[in-house]
Amino acid sequence: MKIAILPGDGIGTEIMAEAVKVLAVLDLKFETETALVGGAAYEAHGHPLPESTLKLAQAADAVLFGAVGDWKYDKLERQFRPEQAILGLRKHLGLFANFRPAICYEQLTHASSLKPELVAGLDILIIRELTGDIYFGQPRGRRTAVDGHFPGAEEAFDTMRYSRPEIERIAHVAFQAARKRNKKVTSVDKANVLETFQFWKDVVTEVHAQYPDVELQHMYVDNAAMQLVKAPKAFDVVVTGNMFGDILSDEAAMLTGSIGMLPSASLDKANKGLYEPSHGSAPDIAGKGVANPLATILSAAMMLRFSLNQPAAADRIESAVRAVLSAGLRTGDIWSEGTKKVGTREMGDAVVAALTTSKTTMTTKS
Ligand code: IPM
Ligand code: MG
Repeated sequence: MKIAILPGDGIGTEIMAEAVKVLAVLDLKFETETALVGGAAYEAHGHPLPESTLKLAQAADAVLFGAVGDWKYDKLERQFRPEQAILGLRKHLGLFANFRPAICYEQLTHASSLKPELVAGLDILIIRELTGDIYFGQPRGRRTAVDGHFPGAEEAFDTMRYSRPEIERIAHVAFQAARKRNKKVTSVDKANVLETFQFWKDVVTEVHAQYPDVELQHMYVDNAAMQLVKAPKAFDVVVTGNMFGDILSDEAAMLTGSIGMLPSASLDKANKGLYEPSHGSAPDIAGKGVANPLATILSAAMMLRFSLNQPAAADRIESAVRAVLSAGLRTGDIWSEGTKKVGTREMGDAVVAALTTSKTTMTTKS
């Protein structure tokens, strides 16, 4: 098994170092290879996703990704901006199914901006379609308007589109995921206004006929944004398009108290995947050793479960993370009165220590 390690920019390198440390103590057989991506790759090779990095990602069994981006690249032409690396990887690796769990850890209930009773025990899964919609729809560009409100004026345009197979495959992913959970899918659309999303709703409804054991609910995106803060626990699996999923997954992440805790997986049709924390590169705190490495460590756990067929190792990492939270260790983003503030490296070390202890316990028992 080969894992491509792409730390990226900003806090990416710091948090990745901790995840790599955690993977190293698991006694599993795999090879890792590290490559530059994002702004770091642009600086070194003139492109955010150099051919060599893409080749490595394609050849690997899984990709562990940190974060990309920095304000200093905002002025670059779009094709050279760090974000293009992640969009390019999604496109070239066919990573159409994005899993973004929003879990509120018992120990962090009070870190949420919502009342504790609204989020205690929250465990929802946003499944975002990742290679279609207005993100990749062609044509797009700038031109002189020939019609509209201001004919003759300069305008920009993008194209929102979804084909039947694109909707069918993500719907199957959502229903199958719901079967392993609480058997409820909420499909989020804007069918009251958009042709694309009336079609989305129709196709999801058709696919649902194959999953009579799963409950399907349709919800408009504006209402979904409202329900997510009103009664988040009423959701189980939420499936939606690329654009709405981008927005709703950030909203859902924040319900849990810290985006610094949330992993994500982007899978292709064979469950090969790219795993990354839900948060970004946080250039404001980069290099200071204060970033929360837990989302990246939990992303490594997701990778072991989904792509590398090592569910026991994934469970061990997740238990170790719970153990360090129970011991009161907190990075700044999840710190509260009465807990111990630690830096990135101390948090990683604590997870490693918890893993080593759990291993010793297991050996003693058997
Ligand atoms: C995300 C990010 C990306 C997206 C950006 C960095 C291109 O916001 O993964 O949610 O919009 O998909
Ligand atoms: Mg986003």
